[in-house]
Amino acid sequence: MSSNQANSIIVISNLRKTYQLGDVNVHALNDISIEIPSSQILFVMGPSGSGKTTLLNLIGGIDSLSEGSIRVCNEEISILSSKKLTKYRKKRLSFVFQFYSLIPTLTAVENVELTMELLKYNKKTLRKKALEYIELVGLEERSSNFPSQLSGGERQRVAIARALAKNPDILLVDEPTGQLDQITGEKIVSLICNIAKSHKKTVILVTHDEDLKKYADRIIKLRSGSIISDNLVL
Ligand SMILES: Nc1ncnc2c1ncn2[C@@H]1O[C@H](COP(=O)(O)OP(=O)(O)O)[C@@H](O)[C@H]1O
Ligand SMILES: [Mg+2]
Repeated sequence: MSSNQANSIIVISNLRKTYQLGDVNVHALNDISIEIPSSQILFVMGPSGSGKTTLLNLIGGIDSLSEGSIRVCNEEISILSSKKLTKYRKKRLSFVFQFYSLIPTLTAVENVELTMELLKYNKKTLRKKALEYIELVGLEERSSNFPSQLSGGERQRVAIARALAKNPDILLVDEPTGQLDQITGEKIVSLICNIAKSHKKTVILVTHDEDLKKYADRIIKLRSGSIISDNLVL
């Protein structure tokens, strides 16, 4: 193992993902190798169909690789049993998606509490902690609103609070601005990146938006399942 690898929270080596569609093989990822240091904010960019979501899903353990290896926190995730994989996802990761996937019958703060129930707080502490995350995303005035009473940007803030409340090491964020206007989208991405920096989270964020590059530490561009560039942002 190189010294670089020892400092990396995620080490992806010679990763391939091939989907079988009837008789056709779709090569979604071809020979991808990436080392991601802890607390790095990595943006993944590339045209539609280039393999961005596939990459996040493989790191997130919600899809299985065809070849290669993915080590997260020194653990090879492709060989984990489904029970261990579930534990890995619960302990290490949070996802933020384009569609906020909030529970419509729960208020903002209750949506956040839902992911914290694993942490086994009593009711009062649970509410207090959940409200801290609601405040962190600037939604203290809206904590008792239901998702239908919130704007798209506010819903995405709840989703971010919910993702952070699990206290994950890694945030996997897939096109978080897809449903938002330019200005709101930029606010959301800067919020995610600022909180990630101050809380030392590792972020892998998929976006199409070239204007958001300034929030990244590093940008990887994919095309047809291959890395065509991998640059630090200075
Ligand atoms: N479940 C699947 N079955 C078959 N092909 C898939 C599946 N998921 C993704 N693909 C294919 O893999 C390629 C990469 O898809 P994806 O990772 O979703 O791209 P992106 O997120 O960059 O738009 C595309 O050609 C897509 O059609
Ligand atoms: Mg995608």
